[in-house]
Amino acid sequence: MKILDGSKYSKIILDDIKQKIRKLSIKPKLAIVLLGKNPSSITYIKSKEKACKYVGMDIEKHFHTLEFTEKDLIELINKLNKDRSVNGIIVQLPLPSNINTDNIIFNIDYKKDVDGFHPFNLGKIFVGLESLAPCTALGIVDLLSFYDIDIKGKTVCILGKSNIVGKPVALMLLNHKANVISCDKYTEDIIKLTQVADILISATGVPNLIKAKHIKKDAVIVDVGFTYKNGVLYGDVDEKSIKDKASYISPVPGGIGKMTVAHLIKNTYKAYMIQNNKKNFI
Ligand code: GUN
Repeated sequence: MKILDGSKYSKIILDDIKQKIRKLSIKPKLAIVLLGKNPSSITYIKSKEKACKYVGMDIEKHFHTLEFTEKDLIELINKLNKDRSVNGIIVQLPLPSNINTDNIIFNIDYKKDVDGFHPFNLGKIFVGLESLAPCTALGIVDLLSFYDIDIKGKTVCILGKSNIVGKPVALMLLNHKANVISCDKYTEDIIKLTQVADILISATGVPNLIKAKHIKKDAVIVDVGFTYKNGVLYGDVDEKSIKDKASYISPVPGGIGKMTVAHLIKNTYKAYMIQNNKKNFI
């Protein structure tokens, strides 16, 4: 079994952006919005900040308590939308349940939506146009292509139907001419579907869910799980169980998480170029 090394490839992506940023007189800037102290969100944000610093991108942190209301958040987003020095805006999810996440995402200027969650950006992927696309989905497709893994005509099974990962990656794989099967916790006889997959992508957050019995011999396994349980980090895949059956696995950590951050940085650079009329985009 070979490793889909997201650490190695993400560093290549970041080094490329770092070289490009070095030549700019004004640096791209990413605004990061966080409400509360969700431990996973804090971990994600730390790695995003670290990558920004590595490539020489500026950051602006807007960390608030859970007292911050939906109205406050929309005011903040409107301010960031208007601020010409801010090129990208991310609002770390999940938001507290009293806030309407869709409404917040909708209010972000789609040209600064470097998470790629705005309906306009998602709509462009739907019709196969270039877009600021969701970073995890970009990271998955890009890592597969870095390892020359064919997608066209292959059967891909995706576990998880979230707006952040499952649905966008399904759309992007359809655009790459894959046969896509989408599953979730309501799926009946899930093994029957996972076993036919040439590529299995798991984004459920259930530790060690995927065992040898779920996969086809020589399948490519992409683990998007990132779950802390009793202080230990788990992916969705039980690596020990599948190691003699899979051809490739993306590890946790060092797989898709790193690719997600690299594509956030790449999207922010792209947003900067669009806003400065150096790149065309509709
Ligand atoms: N929460 C989990 N993943 C993500 C992500 O990629 N972006 C944002 N904003 N929140 C997340």
